[in-house]
Amino acid sequence: MPESFPAPDLAALAQALGPLAPAFDIRWLEDCDSTNSVLLEMPPEDDGKVHVLAATRQAAGRGRRGRQWLAWPGGSLTFSVLWHFVPASSAPAGLSLAVGLALVRALEKLGVAAVALKWPNDVLVHGAKLAGVLVELLPGRRAAPAAVIGIGLNLRLPANAIIPGQAGGATDLVREMGEPPAREHLLAAILTELHPMLATYERAGFGLLRNAWQKRNAFANLPVQVNGESANIAGICLGADEDGALLVHTAAGVRRILAGEVSLRLVS
Ligand code: BTN
Repeated sequence: MPESFPAPDLAALAQALGPLAPAFDIRWLEDCDSTNSVLLEMPPEDDGKVHVLAATRQAAGRGRRGRQWLAWPGGSLTFSVLWHFVPASSAPAGLSLAVGLALVRALEKLGVAAVALKWPNDVLVHGAKLAGVLVELLPGRRAAPAAVIGIGLNLRLPANAIIPGQAGGATDLVREMGEPPAREHLLAAILTELHPMLATYERAGFGLLRNAWQKRNAFANLPVQVNGESANIAGICLGADEDGALLVHTAAGVRRILAGEVSLRLVS
């Protein structure tokens, strides 16, 4: 019998969002396979609102590189945001970095210390993963692209939790800040940072956000290995360029790595 949770308090969520509340249309499901999949398969009409879908439980949460996003009852905050770009806005290539930055800002404001970013978009605390982002573009021919931005934030992991593909291990908000705020308040805190961040990204691209991202680069100037589909690259991590690509100083010069099926790890 699955553990039951009280229904989310959407009025408290709207109150926490304050003047931003009318910008959003927020649904909160008890269960679904994956909030990203639901928005991709049944995208709501573009009515000018930012559609957000949260789920108390995901049966088949997805992560980057075909990994699972593992869930334990009450263990994480999981939601997706559907963002319609205005025509001729920035290409979505650096979008996931901008989302990571919004998450870091929200967590810092909540009092979480030492939050850093691992390219392209893992949120780490002292090398352990606290949150992940999965950006997927809506398929089809559209005048302007639309992206489903999925966010999973660890709230309370079981002591023996093993997160696949996470060399530095995982952490959760309970460990990093003590008892976290109610999930409605957490979601409001993240959306409050995400909305202006996406608007800036859409208007000006990642270039304007790059300095802020570089300051939070967990691997800045450290030796890294990038495992790609066809080759592995070793060098010193220089961070992200104006387009959000990863720069690595290798023996053969600076290599520019575009977001894709690559994983970045620290070399000891
Ligand atoms: C990663 O770290 O690899 C990305 C994890 C993204 C998980 C979130 S949880 C909400 C949304 N729905 C999913 O199926 N995945 C994302």
